[in-house]
Amino acid sequence: MIISASTDYRQAAKRRIPPFLFHYADGGAYTEHTLRHNVEDLAGIALRQRVLKDMSSLSLETELFGESMAMPVALAPVGLAGMYARRGEVQAARAAASKGIPFTLSTVSVCPIAEVASAIERPLWFQLYVLKDRGFMKHVLERAKAAGVKTLVFTVDMPVPGARYRDAHSGMSGKHAGIRRMLQAVTHPFWAWDVGLHGRPHDLGNVSDYRGEPTELEDYIAWLGNNFDPSISWKDLEWIREFWDGPMIIKGILDPEDARDAVRFGADGIVVSNHGGRQLDGVPSTARALPAIADAVKGDLAILADSGVRNGLDVVRMIAMGADTVLLGRAYIYALATAGEAGVAHLLELFEKEMQVAMTLTGARSIAELGPDSLVTGSAASSIERMLSPSL
Ligand SMILES: Cc1cc2nc3c(=O)[nH]c(=O)nc-3n(C[C@H](O)[C@H](O)[C@H](O)COP(=O)(O)O)c2cc1C
Repeated sequence: MIISASTDYRQAAKRRIPPFLFHYADGGAYTEHTLRHNVEDLAGIALRQRVLKDMSSLSLETELFGESMAMPVALAPVGLAGMYARRGEVQAARAAASKGIPFTLSTVSVCPIAEVASAIERPLWFQLYVLKDRGFMKHVLERAKAAGVKTLVFTVDMPVPGARYRDAHSGMSGKHAGIRRMLQAVTHPFWAWDVGLHGRPHDLGNVSDYRGEPTELEDYIAWLGNNFDPSISWKDLEWIREFWDGPMIIKGILDPEDARDAVRFGADGIVVSNHGGRQLDGVPSTARALPAIADAVKGDLAILADSGVRNGLDVVRMIAMGADTVLLGRAYIYALATAGEAGVAHLLELFEKEMQVAMTLTGARSIAELGPDSLVTGSAASSIERMLSPSL
């Protein structure tokens, strides 16, 4: 029974991959309150049904920074995606490119930039963290430029990593983690054969490339822990602005004041995101944060949004609340873990169909026609405040 494609893929992924990987993707920070609210608040936004409006022609096509997109969706940066399927980043990027949407490669991907870029016709988007090792940042930016990347996604909501307690329980980190992961791999033979054996090397491709020697999964945790930079501020981003001549998107904005700062800084876009509830548990869901941010900066830069998007209706809701493009994180990882490139391609097809139905029944013939009027009351911000539970 299909409840939603990503719910079914989530169940299938849970059976297929070792628990340390499932929980690394599925889990969030602390009590996972924000993670739950991302999904529930978004699902609670009521779409406004309209009928008898001749919806025989409908288009989901859109454009961002001069790049055409078959629908206003892109795949979000997900670290270690290459552990979820054999050379997972390549498979996901291929599925995205065939569907006509962008794929964002994480700094901490398994496959290095050049491997993924050379597998697809479309330019990759690349995500960079602000790290203490500025030499590494410069190195990857040069690699990204050489690989034809134009759009840079700069993630700023990780000056320190959020505590994800599931990782310590699952064997991703904590005591005897290596042995526990090995045992889990043995009891998940499909994954062990497909990824464990044939998906090597299992290192952080971009970091190995910089260091000139292979890295291990253990190094990932240690490297992340040692390399995030709590001293970061807007002025630290200036050299990147000068160095990078393509569009620059700041990811991890949840407050209208920060969105205005991003405009002052000269960013081309922002991603309204709480990192999928993986950073500060207790911050508002994106559904709650987005309308006020759109009120503050819509039209001044591109607004992208993520966190909690599980089907095509959620994409329509985000666009109606003011997003120009929506990023998928876990939704595509579950599909990748279950069926690789074919799984992601199938998921994107379902998203497209769900969006078509939602747009037909809200009377929006194009993405530009989706707006606050597509929701139950006139203003997104006020209607959302009324519709959502007052628990956050
Ligand atoms: C397993 C996992 C790894 C992630 N790694 C990164 C990353 O390397 N860089 C980044 O900017 N965001 C990362 N994110 C956050 C996603 O880009 C995105 O913001 C988030 O997944 C959206 O929430 P959702 O998955 O609930 O839709 C990661 C998310 C997950 C689930």
